[in-house]
Amino acid sequence: MSPTSAATQFRTTVPNDLEPFWMPFTSNRAFKARPRMISRAKDMYYYTPEGKQVLDACAGLWCTNAGHNRDSIVAAIQAQAAELDFSPSFQYGHPKSFELAARIAALAPGDLDHVFFCNSGSEATDTALKIALAYWNVKGEGQRTRLIGRERGYHGVGFGGISVGGMVNNRKFFGGLLTGVDHLPHTYNRAEQAFTKGEPEWGAHLADDLENLVTLHSASNIAAVIVEPMAGSTGVLPAPKGYLKRLRQICDKHNILLIFDEVITGFGRLGHAFAAERYGVIPDMICFAKGVTSGSVPMGGVIARKGIYDAFMKGPDYMVELFHGYTYSAHPLACAAGLAALDLYRDEDLFARANKLEAKWADAAMSLKGLPNVLDIRQVGLTAAVDLASKPDAVGRRGFDAMEKGFHEQGIMVRTAGDTLAVTPPLTVTEAQIGEIFDKLASLIRQVA
Ligand SMILES: Cc1ncc(COP(=O)(O)O)c(C=O)c1O
Repeated sequence: MSPTSAATQFRTTVPNDLEPFWMPFTSNRAFKARPRMISRAKDMYYYTPEGKQVLDACAGLWCTNAGHNRDSIVAAIQAQAAELDFSPSFQYGHPKSFELAARIAALAPGDLDHVFFCNSGSEATDTALKIALAYWNVKGEGQRTRLIGRERGYHGVGFGGISVGGMVNNRKFFGGLLTGVDHLPHTYNRAEQAFTKGEPEWGAHLADDLENLVTLHSASNIAAVIVEPMAGSTGVLPAPKGYLKRLRQICDKHNILLIFDEVITGFGRLGHAFAAERYGVIPDMICFAKGVTSGSVPMGGVIARKGIYDAFMKGPDYMVELFHGYTYSAHPLACAAGLAALDLYRDEDLFARANKLEAKWADAAMSLKGLPNVLDIRQVGLTAAVDLASKPDAVGRRGFDAMEKGFHEQGIMVRTAGDTLAVTPPLTVTEAQIGEIFDKLASLIRQVA
């Protein structure tokens, strides 16, 4: 079907009144004054209600890793809706939830072999933190309650996630949050790392700050450390070379659980099923979401090592072992979509494809060096970010203008965090589309100079 006939077929009516929807993480007034409305998608493209094509350089929100509206995923969701709309996962089960758990466990490294399902990345991180606290309780070390996050980390918007997270705007309105939380320093230093392709050489030593926190709080009180292998939302901060290995060693030394938040990096973003594999580090838990269904149905989860699951499997067998879960944990539609997405990743070898494209992607990203106001470019896997100098009187204006012009004038979707522009396309992106993404970015950067 040609884009034009598809656009005609799917044309939607846009309501006159946009006011009732309080949009998340959005400048509502600016959006409602000049909406960036999307009504349809296919493969690498979004379409506006008028049928205008917009190149998706963001995989939606870092999630549609297999591209949009893939036929097999659509068919799987439709068939599942007709067969079993909902069944509870508390005390009952449906076959696809077990099948999907096994498929995800098989992709995870080492003995990460049990999967707890939820519905989002925020729920995944809160679930992992709760499992860590409960784990120490069942092990008889219930005093281990302190949780360690990292500055500039993003772990979603639940109270656990924002507490261990390190992004000021996400934290400042929400009072005391969880107590008993501390943070490692973030790993970014422009003077040492600017314009690095992939993982920077400088920064592994920053993991040693965990030793300082152990000295301050005592390891016997620390339950877990949670980090993103690549901090995405704060502007693509790749882990420095050797950093994650060092963190693992220090956690092992003090018997502290290590959680990787792979909500973005999971399912191929860094050229492997999980970033843990890229870095040769086995964490105790992996949080995932987004790419598990290629963004098509909400789903998240936590993969736990065998020893963690086994620690809970004691006491009378009729008793609930972990008092945690969501009505929609392992929702049938999400499981069907997840299985179809994993089939696509396997059949099209998309993780390896991302790996192969990385060098080309990195070169294209770095070609923006030298454009007006470009302070730094970072890249890892199929992800890149460009820091633009802020206007002295209007921090965030350049980023916002680039996003708006991108959508309305250049036909491209980019993400912004303040004056940082981020791109992270579906893993199906072609070499020609990589060229197009960075050409459009270059022209946007000139436009907002
Ligand atoms: C690393 C990380 N963790 C957690 C989340 C939260 O995911 P969600 O928005 O699905 O709750 C995100 C979202 O971008 C993320 O990037």
